[in-house]
Amino acid sequence: MSRVTEIRYVGYATPDIDAERKFYGEVWGLKEVHEQDGLVYFAAQGHDELYVVRLRQSHTAHIDVVSLATETRGDVDALFEKVKAAGNQIIFEPRDLTQFGGGYGFRFFSTDGLSFEISAEVRRGTSRPLEPREAIPERISHIVFHSPDHRAQTQFFIDVLGFRLSDWIGDFMSFLRCNTAHHRIAFLPGPPCLNHVAYDMPNVDEMMRGIARLKRKDVDLRWGPGRHTAGNNTFSYFTTPNGFAVEYTSELEQVDDASWEPQVYEPAPHIMDQWGTGTGGPQTMPKPAADTGLFRAAEV
Ligand SMILES: [Fe+2]
Repeated sequence: MSRVTEIRYVGYATPDIDAERKFYGEVWGLKEVHEQDGLVYFAAQGHDELYVVRLRQSHTAHIDVVSLATETRGDVDALFEKVKAAGNQIIFEPRDLTQFGGGYGFRFFSTDGLSFEISAEVRRGTSRPLEPREAIPERISHIVFHSPDHRAQTQFFIDVLGFRLSDWIGDFMSFLRCNTAHHRIAFLPGPPCLNHVAYDMPNVDEMMRGIARLKRKDVDLRWGPGRHTAGNNTFSYFTTPNGFAVEYTSELEQVDDASWEPQVYEPAPHIMDQWGTGTGGPQTMPKPAADTGLFRAAEV
């Protein structure tokens, strides 16, 4: 059955693109790989996804697009038919993509109004083994969204896009996988928006060194360091100059994609942070507000 198999990239619209560009390239540890038509692209060097972040100048800070991968053109076409049948608004039908890296894909709005792309045959980039103590991201780990109907969004990702349920925390946070990583997508209640994008660090030591680098560069830790229970991954949350939340994580659990049985964790502080070491908490993260780009399609 055709399904989404990975996260590709997040496209951000940013009022201060210079600051965001400097942050990703000089602080966060991504590598700027291309600039074209006002779009700036960044790769995570530990993985061969051609790019993981795309920036564009705009009057407001919002999400242009979240791009997901599937395996073949046939999968793109099959997923398009399913999304269309589910009644979602289509931005464009499957076609050759003209942006950096090309490929074949389509875009649609979630029922919350966030823009998604599903593609195949995008050109691969290069990757290299990260050096010890380099403390830079290997790849995108996961993306967390808020939704006014987070149960419906969760079900859409399962029924239409082929994700599988990994766990719930209470009835307020769902964790969804599209491969052997415990989660690539998660949903929380709230106004329609992105909560954060997480990046895998090679291990917990590298995450701690990454936190130290950000501290030296005057980027405040919003919440962490700690270790979550669902997915057993370490966490540390920051915000970019334009106000988007980002996370360094490590050691996200690998599961048997076919047979993992979902659990429901009772919400409790030691579930959110099993070490109990994190300073801050959800209350020190940016307050969720409806994305200002809902149901507005980016031009590219
Ligand atoms: Fe996270």
